[in-house]
Amino acid sequence: MDTIGRMAGKVGLVTAAASGMGRAGAIRFAREGAAVGVVDIDEARTAAVVREIIDAGGKAIAISGDLRQDAFAREIVHRTVKAFGGLDFVWNHVGHPGPAAIEGIDWKDFELAMDLNLRTVLVTTEAALPELRARGGGSILFTASTSGLAGSQFSPVYNIAKFGVVGLVHGLAKRYAREKIRVNAVCPGPTDTPMLRVFVARPDSQLPPGETPETLVQKRGGQVPMRRPAQPEEIANAALFLLSDEASYITGVALPVDGGATA
Ligand SMILES: NC(=O)c1ccc[n+]([C@@H]2O[C@H](COP(=O)([O-])OP(=O)(O)OC[C@H]3O[C@@H](n4cnc5c(N)ncnc54)[C@H](O)[C@@H]3O)[C@@H](O)[C@H]2O)c1
Repeated sequence: MDTIGRMAGKVGLVTAAASGMGRAGAIRFAREGAAVGVVDIDEARTAAVVREIIDAGGKAIAISGDLRQDAFAREIVHRTVKAFGGLDFVWNHVGHPGPAAIEGIDWKDFELAMDLNLRTVLVTTEAALPELRARGGGSILFTASTSGLAGSQFSPVYNIAKFGVVGLVHGLAKRYAREKIRVNAVCPGPTDTPMLRVFVARPDSQLPPGETPETLVQKRGGQVPMRRPAQPEEIANAALFLLSDEASYITGVALPVDGGATA
């Protein structure tokens, strides 16, 4: 693996990194020279991502656990720092679709969405800030969604959470700019990952007769101007740019990566 890349010498962590966009990002950042803390609740898949990175000559450690636990959401920072000697970037990618329905809402699912989209990312950020400051600055990226920029009839609760993420990005960006800590978000449109299948076929989302999660994923992609869902690597490309020094004058941005959906 070529370790002289766009992230050479950087240390970072990626949450929800055993699958989808997080996995694509962890692998890409490592290929660009970063040492990566790969964080996910799925122990086996996390280990597989780390193995893939190390086999290709990169640097990574597996950190498995439940980000709903505050202690774990902090520990991921400390374990990455301990392994690699500091921290330069964080991709707070974990999230959850939450309930589709408002009438008859499942409040447990509401709480899960608030915990995984808002609370845990703030806990990790709180733990990361002193470490980024110690390096003289750094970069934090959140995963919002096009549902953080415009209403979604499929999920008003997801709107609350992802608009919240965008608000957090705006506030943190202004608060920490003087300390050279940049804070941005990527706002993916429908992206071809397991979560998109969960999203379109939630138990309370009233699957139209004859539709399967697979047909719905293609339909949802077909509604985008580019007429297809994104591939996880296309979101990872945007994440790489925003987290790297190439985006040195960009902070407080919520970047749509959505095939034109919010144009
Ligand atoms: N896929 C899409 O269409 C889409 C669009 C916009 C935004 N998003 C956002 O992207 C992120 C999800 O990424 P994805 O689509 O790559 O999903 P994915 O389904 O490929 O991966 C999600 C990962 O999160 C992990 N995870 C779930 N709960 C966890 C927990 N409590 N602690 C630690 N890890 C946990 C899972 O094990 C899994 O590996 C979320 O923030 C989601 O809101 C997704």
